[in-house]
Amino acid sequence: MEQLQTNQESWEEAWSVAPGHCLLESSNVCSPSVACWATSPCSKLWTPVATALPVPRDILISPSCWQYAVLLNRFNYPFELEKDLHLKGYHTLFQGSLPYCSQSMKCYLSRTPDRMPSERHQTGNLKKYYLLNAASLLPVLALELRDGEKVLDLCAAPGGKSVALLQCACPGYLHCNEYDSLRLRWLRQTLESFIPQPLINVIKVSELDGREMGDAQPETFDKVLVDAPCSNDRSWLFSSDSQKAAYRISQRRNLPVLQVELLSFRILLIQPWSAVKALRPGGLLVYSTCTLSKAENQDVISEILNSHNNIMPMDIKGIASTCSKDFTFAPTGQECGLLVIPDKGKTWGPMYVAKLKKSWSTRKWVTLEL
Ligand SMILES: C[S@@+](CC[C@H](N)C(=O)[O-])C[C@H]1O[C@@H](n2cnc3c(N)ncnc32)[C@H](O)[C@@H]1O
Repeated sequence: MEQLQTNQESWEEAWSVAPGHCLLESSNVCSPSVACWATSPCSKLWTPVATALPVPRDILISPSCWQYAVLLNRFNYPFELEKDLHLKGYHTLFQGSLPYCSQSMKCYLSRTPDRMPSERHQTGNLKKYYLLNAASLLPVLALELRDGEKVLDLCAAPGGKSVALLQCACPGYLHCNEYDSLRLRWLRQTLESFIPQPLINVIKVSELDGREMGDAQPETFDKVLVDAPCSNDRSWLFSSDSQKAAYRISQRRNLPVLQVELLSFRILLIQPWSAVKALRPGGLLVYSTCTLSKAENQDVISEILNSHNNIMPMDIKGIASTCSKDFTFAPTGQECGLLVIPDKGKTWGPMYVAKLKKSWSTRKWVTLEL
């Protein structure tokens, strides 16, 4: 695995910008958001290791160098397009290289920032491909979905990971939940655009606060994906509206609380509530974000592991070694967590993925008698 080394000082230097000043001349980059990255106490929310090098920062604020992967839709397979992608120098990601990566999921990558045009939504016509940040497939693969399983996508809109899950296997039941009603419409449209009617029948879409899902459907799911709301390091830096930017910055401090609550419990009640409760014993839970923030990544997972003795960390390093040619990883200090950081020619991420398992019994603690 490619590892990056750095220190806090170089990180502060790399991000140094006076509050209210824009790091770049670009009018699209939002000065308050970028400044927040570099000024205390907001900067403490970042992973010094990952943000120290100028490379991830420069990539995040330069959309012209972003790459877009092409996930083919197996329900309307584009054979001609696949030939064109080969001719254009695209290559497949992970195909057959992970024991649980289904042959039916085909994702093509280019080493250049080439972007295929987006397809228009047309009622009754299935789209042929979905454009995405290739690192978003990692949480989907970490779930190891198999045919017939019951799966919950707790924070599902706009639906990219739900579509990717259905490229890997045919679940017996897929529950896609989204709290925001506007984004819920977007999710419905995505599913309608990619998934044929017979399969739509095994999908349930709901509009619940994800924090209540465990109580609504306790111990129901074999697999649960919590692709949490986070301080998205791509979109958050771009805003023409300074009020929106100020709101996002203030909201950022509350995100780790919401993330822990979506995974597990109301902070003050300290009892299993959400994703952990919805998962059956023996089931897998995958948590992901698209931020470099340690407070929203490793710290959230440590909180869950420290507070539940039936939740086990699962070693996820196999995925990293399999795709180290295509992705650059930063160390997380955890066996169960991966962090993809944007790099030159591999502008994927940021994407943090952690894999956990709910055991049948509680962890046994060894106590020493003095
Ligand atoms: C990172 S996005 C999910 C992206 C999606 N999984 C995909 O791959 O297309 C997080 C989503 O969580 C939703 N969300 C925020 N708070 C929530 C809550 N309390 N319960 C459920 N969803 C929530 C947001 O509206 C947002 O759509």
